[in-house]
Parts: sequence; structure tokens; C-alpha cells
Amino acid sequence: MTLININEAKKNVQQVGFLDVDIDAHLDLFKEIERLKKEKNAVVLAHYYQEADIQDVADYIGDSLGLAQQAEKTTADIIVFAGVHFMAETAKILNPGKKVLLPDFKAGCSLSDSAPPLLFKKFKDEHPGHIVISYINCSAGIKALSDIICTSSNARQIVESLPEDQKIIFAPDKNLGAYINKKTGRNMVLWNGACMVHEIFSREKITKLKVRHPDAKIIAHPECEDAVLQLADFIGSTTQLLKFTEKDEGKEFIVATETGILHKMQKNSPDKIFIPAPPDNSCACNDCPHMKLNTLEKLYLCMEYESPELTMDEDLRLAALKPIRRMLEISASLGL
Ligand code: 13P
Ligand code: SF4
Repeated sequence: MTLININEAKKNVQQVGFLDVDIDAHLDLFKEIERLKKEKNAVVLAHYYQEADIQDVADYIGDSLGLAQQAEKTTADIIVFAGVHFMAETAKILNPGKKVLLPDFKAGCSLSDSAPPLLFKKFKDEHPGHIVISYINCSAGIKALSDIICTSSNARQIVESLPEDQKIIFAPDKNLGAYINKKTGRNMVLWNGACMVHEIFSREKITKLKVRHPDAKIIAHPECEDAVLQLADFIGSTTQLLKFTEKDEGKEFIVATETGILHKMQKNSPDKIFIPAPPDNSCACNDCPHMKLNTLEKLYLCMEYESPELTMDEDLRLAALKPIRRMLEISASLGL
């Protein structure tokens, strides 16, 4: 391996986001990552939106709820989180004794960024008497201002666990919030945030695609806008979408979520056809630019040199832990 000044690279990691050193092109990264997992008692947790190579080396691939549950119960010494920053933060909040590493510290989230804690605190103060339910795609600062966290797997059940007349603020995803309002008949106050990937799908182009593939079922993530969700035969979190494609008798699916999930869908149902739903322009905008900052090379480097590492102020961690615990307790009681 050709090292270009690892100490300098470690100093720069906060600025660049990852260890910017050269790797010998002949190195078998799959083998190296397996070696490092054993040597360091490390577990690799990956979201379905990660590139295919990362999914293939992961010990666990899942949606946000599954990943939080795995992070909480792992006995590994090191959690390597191949996902975005708020997911690694959640792992640290739930399991503070573990070293949490991220391949690229700058893998953020447009949805999480849409809710700065100071502005959100003001919004919360303007709505006294409201319980705050926050989607897990938010910073630890927003979690600390929340009463219960939810994910796209359990949002409906979490909302329905509260009395019907309970006033609720739902943050930060207005599309998921509007979808849950519609499903439950509630009138939650919605923070005006959205995911840049799920907002980009074009209802018009999906409709045209459906004309060319009349037997295809349209499946969508609830972070999509209502206009797209109205077209869907099935709506669910990434894990729920994956399970639907495995069980459903349909042979063709138009998938309105980030393209990374298609790898697992195709792997689990090799005889079925998966078509990514088109965005409303010609770019590959249904690839999450944050999720895709992680690469196999960065994953290997962060494991080898144990950097970047996520650390957190203990008061913030404890404040953010409470609403996550409430979510996990409600989820467990409902068998989710
Ligand atoms: P889930 O993992 O809950 O399906 O959410 C998708 C997502 O946008 C994660 O960033
Ligand atoms: Fe955030 Fe959307 Fe990317 Fe998920 S897909 S990490 S919600 S920007």
C-alpha cells in the first residue's frame, strides 16, 4: 500500500471529510475489509442506498429503523456506519461505549439540514401544547428538542399511539408528515423540510413510463410528494418496499426511491424487472449525493486507521436518547 502521509491526512480529515490517502490499486479491498472486521471486532452497518460494493461487504443492510436496532444491540467494539451522518449519530446515541466510524464525515442529508435546531426551537415555542414527533432523518440537536422519534417504517403507528386530540408537530419531512396526516386523519403541524432525492420524481414521466410498462407496479417511498404517491400501488420504507417486491406476484416494478435499493431488490428477486422512476430532469438525481459520498476505498481507510470517528457531547447525547428510546419501545411493543 502506498501511503501518502497518513498523519497529515488525519489532521485534514475534519476539513476534507475522509482520509485522503492513496491505496495500492492491487489491494483486494473486499478481503482487507473482512480482515479488519475480524482483527478489530468491527461490524459494518449499511443503508440500502449505499453503492453495491458496500452493501456486499456489510454485515447488516437495512432501513433507518433496522439500522438503529442493530446499532443498539451490537456487541462489536467498532460500528462502521456506511450511511449518512444522522445515522452514525443515532448509533453513537444508542451505544456510546462503541467507537463509531464513518467512511466520509461529510455524508450529510438535505432533509436533516432543512431543520436547524435554533429555528426549530422558535417554531416549537410558537406551538405550545404540541408534542414533537421527529423523523429520524434529523440532527441530534433536533432529536433533543423532540418527544418521540419515528422512521418511515413506524411513523403511522407512532402517531396513532397518541390520543386523537393530541396536538402534534411533525418534523422535518413535510411529505412524510402529509402522508401520515392523510392516512390517520390527524392534522399535525408540519415543518417545511423535504428530501432532495424523493422530491425530484416526475409524476408525468412516471405516468408515461407506466404506459410503456402497463403491468409494472409503481412502488414509492413516503418521502415522495403526494402527486407521486397517488400513482403508487404500494408505499413504504425501503425495507417494506423490498419485502413487497419479494412477496408480490408482479414481475415488473417502477421504483420511486433512491436507486441503491435496486441492487438488493434484483439480488433477492433475480427473475423480476426493476425500473428506477425517472426524475423531472435528465440528471441522475435519484442517486443521493450524500449517501454516494461513501466508497469502498473510504470504507477500507476508515477501518484501517479508525478515522473519521464520530464523537458527541454527553448532555446532547442524553437529551437525544430519550425520544429515540420512546420510539424503540413503541416499535418493540408493536413487534416492528
Ligand atoms: P428509510 O431508511 O426509513 O426507508 O428512509 C430512507 C431514507 O431516506 C434514508 O435516508
Ligand atoms: Fe437525506 Fe434524502 Fe439522502 Fe435520505 S435520500 S440521506 S433523506 S437526502
